[in-house]
Amino acid sequence: MRRIMTPYRIKVVEPIKWNTKEERENIIKEADYCTGFLKAEDIPINFETDSGTSAMSQDQWAGMMKGDESYFCCKNWFHLEEAVKKFTGYKYILATHQGRAAENIICSCIIEKPGGVAPANAHYGTTEVHARRLGINPVNLYPEEALDTQALGDFKGNIDLNKLEDLIKKKGAKNIPFLNLVLTNNFTAGQPVSMANIKEASKIVHKNGIKVVIDSARIAENAFFIKEREPGYKNKSIREICREIYSYADIMHMSSKKGALVNMGGLIATNDKDFYEKMSAMLIQFEGYITYGGLSGRDLEALAIGLNEGLEYDYLASRIGQVKLLGDLLRKKGVPIYEPSGGHAIYVDAEKAYPHIPKEEFVAQVLAVQTYIESGVMGIESPSSLGWSRTDPETRKLMSPPFELVRYAIPRRVYTDSQIEYAAEGIKAAMNLGKALKGFRIKWIPKNEFLRIFQYRLERLN
Ligand code: F0G
Repeated sequence: MRRIMTPYRIKVVEPIKWNTKEERENIIKEADYCTGFLKAEDIPINFETDSGTSAMSQDQWAGMMKGDESYFCCKNWFHLEEAVKKFTGYKYILATHQGRAAENIICSCIIEKPGGVAPANAHYGTTEVHARRLGINPVNLYPEEALDTQALGDFKGNIDLNKLEDLIKKKGAKNIPFLNLVLTNNFTAGQPVSMANIKEASKIVHKNGIKVVIDSARIAENAFFIKEREPGYKNKSIREICREIYSYADIMHMSSKKGALVNMGGLIATNDKDFYEKMSAMLIQFEGYITYGGLSGRDLEALAIGLNEGLEYDYLASRIGQVKLLGDLLRKKGVPIYEPSGGHAIYVDAEKAYPHIPKEEFVAQVLAVQTYIESGVMGIESPSSLGWSRTDPETRKLMSPPFELVRYAIPRRVYTDSQIEYAAEGIKAAMNLGKALKGFRIKWIPKNEFLRIFQYRLERLN
């Protein structure tokens, strides 16, 4: 991949409050080693998430000043509607306050009875719990290569098509309300899904009358990888690739807080008029009127502009190039990253970094915490058994996710390459401590399993 020069200049800066190693040791201990309890201002380099953390452009800020705050049919709504139609090729558009609200509406409208299963390449946690709440078992159909953090594949975010066919045979199509394809795949380290895989998966489920839903949080990054890696797409624009993806699906939803370069917002689009009307009724109940869906006029405008900016090739090349830079630096330093580097983050295989700490002692959290202490760089344990263990509804056993990873997610247009270099040194310094480090024990954990994500209290083992 050609490294593209960052295609913007910095106009407004936010000073970073630095702290010392001793201060960080106390700060994280007082937060009971829980990411969700740490004050953001105590985190100098914040790689906890790429969600809602993008820097907006001058056009987006200028657009916000043109926010029309009328209740019905504000002019910014029409800008957004046009941008989403052009982006997806779908006719019916809805906005939501963020991605999970869109998932709630789609799941509540598409799941007509409990007892079935919803396959995915790997559901995001919020989709997973919407499905569970509605009595559906969400299942992740990873291909074998995705489970090997060191395998070098171009499209390790794919869904395993054989497993998908087997699942349909075993459960029966009428018990499968939808297939969810998450692009890129946040659970397998931001790896992309190939167009061939999307097309084939869609063919398999459509043949069985099952709908295809695209979780589009990072679809532009996925499209970038298709353009770079998949034969036949080199000369296609990112927009054309996204349109082709959507042509194989029935409904898209999006957390606009990622690839659409805004701090808040979500989207739904489809060509199915009846389904749109069903969703509209729910949207009005939970989000707001159909021409604003939980967002103000200025938010709608920033989203319309950000959606278009997020599809620009140079921006994407520079953004994914920066993620790759972190991956390359870490690999060179001998840090075991999930290979190859993905679209929005570098994930470090904590079990390989600290082989002496068992996963029952939350090895991923040990690495995340130590990186913070050493350098002020904070990632999160995701996926790992601390945040993502779940009781299997069929076997009633507590199941761990397949990995113990620390995700260092890079906000879009926010950090400079020198900060990336600094972060690589911090992660390496944490890894170097190796055998000197001990694992954690749970002091408190919420009763609801899903709330384990970012809410727990830990103490060090002696
Ligand atoms: N889908 C994917 C693939 C996501 O990564 C997220 C959020 C959502 C849906 C939900 O969107 O936050 O706007 O409600 N991911 C964040 C993360 C929180 O850090 O990965 P939301």
